[in-house]
Amino acid sequence: MAIAFESLYSDIAGRCGKLTIGKKTVRTPALLPVINPHLQLVTPHELREMGVEAIITNGYIISQSRQFRERAMTEGLHKVLGFDGVIMTDSGSFQLSVYGQVSITSTGTLAFQRDIGSDIWVPLDIPTSPASDRETAEQELAVTLRRLAEAREVFGRDAPIAGPVQGGIFEDLREQAGREVSGMGFSFCPIGAVVPLMESYRYRDLVSVVMAAKRTLSPAACTHLFGAGHPSMFALATAMGCDLFDSAAYALYAKAGRYLTVHGSFRLDELADLPCACSVCRTYTAEELRTAPDRERLLALHNLYVTLAEISRIRQAIVDGTLWELVDERCRGHPQLLSGYRALLGHAPSLELHDRVTKRRFFYRGDESCARTEVLHYQQMLSRLRLEDTVLVSFDGNKCEGFKETLLFRPPFGPYSRELGETFPIGPSEVPEWDEPMVRRGCQGVRLLCSTHPGSRIAVSCSARWEPIVRQELGEIEVLYNAV
Ligand code: GUN
Ligand code: ZN
Repeated sequence: MAIAFESLYSDIAGRCGKLTIGKKTVRTPALLPVINPHLQLVTPHELREMGVEAIITNGYIISQSRQFRERAMTEGLHKVLGFDGVIMTDSGSFQLSVYGQVSITSTGTLAFQRDIGSDIWVPLDIPTSPASDRETAEQELAVTLRRLAEAREVFGRDAPIAGPVQGGIFEDLREQAGREVSGMGFSFCPIGAVVPLMESYRYRDLVSVVMAAKRTLSPAACTHLFGAGHPSMFALATAMGCDLFDSAAYALYAKAGRYLTVHGSFRLDELADLPCACSVCRTYTAEELRTAPDRERLLALHNLYVTLAEISRIRQAIVDGTLWELVDERCRGHPQLLSGYRALLGHAPSLELHDRVTKRRFFYRGDESCARTEVLHYQQMLSRLRLEDTVLVSFDGNKCEGFKETLLFRPPFGPYSRELGETFPIGPSEVPEWDEPMVRRGCQGVRLLCSTHPGSRIAVSCSARWEPIVRQELGEIEVLYNAV
């Protein structure tokens, strides 16, 4: 019953893959809707019909429930919930972090999860609060890691046990956690204790801890972002290499009368119309939905449709190689998401190592696009170009006497030869009217070309519009302007 993960397509550090547990498979990225057995707004059977391959429920709640405990032990969890796909059970750690104590041990909850036939079991990890100091975070991480080692010893290497990555907001502790969890052989690794960060819109910190964990987790590990529920941040998290999300948001928001969209959420009474293609929104008007007796269930259904559609959109973006464009679009929905996006772009040097070489297209979407992995990758490649001993980088494409070779210029990438103009990223790139940030970024490409080709005389020809910028960026370089 070991857990295996295979990546089929990738873009940035995101993957489209296949998670296999025994005979069951789940296409990733995937959303695992959270099922509260006591309060099923949407039944697991209905979820299955919506294409959901995996759900998550709380093993602790089931173990404490007179109604469910015995039935789950005798009939099995799948029968009790009416779901034949993958069921992941959480331990009770969340209750631990909210109520301070739970009446179980880590081995005890794992044995219970095994006995009810859960497909993925979660040990009793300690979700360290982002407010905790370093000493506390260290101590709690040590306890979590001890429990993971114990789980391996008691249940064996092949048991389908998740290895949660903790460490609070401390990057080095998250790195240590990722290293040790992968070292113990866990191939399913949730990144934990991020809910408080997301609830308070701390996306910059979220990027910092997820990137730290991903630096040391095995690339073969399926990475779950524990408690990530709002669809507006799925693209950002996927770009970092998160493969699974679990969402109670669809139900929690519905309970609060909130309507999810990929750009943010609305109170139902703020909506004059329902901007969505799902069957609920095509059947009801905003006014009818507000007053419907089953309003909460209808809202939950809509919230799920929106969330599942975003997962599909992300999968398609990965196949196309347009995930950066999607991240850019989503992260403009909230200033704190934009902040997280900018933090992610700051990691471009390490993301570039995972990023694929060719994509369907590159759409320039503003200054942030200058920092994308494809620009970095292209400019690093420039050092390997073979050049003549005299080279003109011509902004307008015109040649000039005295230069054996003419390169063209495409911001934000920089200089390119005619052959490179046919391939990614230059060929399928779309750039609006040139502006200063993109020309400055392109000039960095020229600077790299100069520093890696000391044997060539390299000059730039450009119009008077760009001359001051070229001089600023390239210092001593020879500039011919208005060259014909
Ligand atoms: N649900 C949300 N966050 C966490 C976490 O850190 N650990 C566990 N076990 N469940 C969670
Ligand atoms: Zn809808």
